[in-house]
Amino acid sequence: MVKKNTCVFISGKGSNLKNLISYSRDNVFPIRISLIISNNKKAYGINYAKKFKIPYIFINTKSKNYENKIFLYLKKYKISLICLAGYMKIISNKFIKEYRGKIINIHPSLLPKFKGLNTFSRMLKVKEKKAGCTVHYVNEKLDGGNKILQKAFPIEKKDNEKILKIKTQRLEYRAFPEAIIKIFRNN
Ligand code: GRF
Repeated sequence: MVKKNTCVFISGKGSNLKNLISYSRDNVFPIRISLIISNNKKAYGINYAKKFKIPYIFINTKSKNYENKIFLYLKKYKISLICLAGYMKIISNKFIKEYRGKIINIHPSLLPKFKGLNTFSRMLKVKEKKAGCTVHYVNEKLDGGNKILQKAFPIEKKDNEKILKIKTQRLEYRAFPEAIIKIFRNN
């Protein structure tokens, strides 16, 4: 099996990145993490790049034409899949067009419900019955691309934001790898 060169975009903790790195070390997992991009110099996730000796770059999104710099790196590393794993920056339409069908994101809600930020507090506010996560393709609409897969769990009375986050992330660590396997199953 020829593994697809993959780039993971992060901004923070990088626990999904860490999880994907560990899956990708398995010979039968369809991707290799070839590059990590962070828009935050202090992102904890960068430590996983260092630990596992994966090339990484910091992108200053305040600099002009920073996406052109990203394009160059994606070409250099022959990237054919981009995983957004807690990347807190909107990707331009030009970028999406260039990599259409090749950018996936993980979102901490059962989309189309609770797009955007602060998902857990909004869920609790409206007494939602179920929470979960969604892996989806990225298109021009925020959290609006086609779903690849979702995983759900029931919200219990004692759940607060912190607990919902923990439970959701536990599911994310299964959902992201499964979605990647699903994408490449028929390729
Ligand atoms: C995840 O919970 C994901 O749903 C959201 O950002 C979070 C990133 O967490 N998009 P981590 O950096 O992978 O720990």
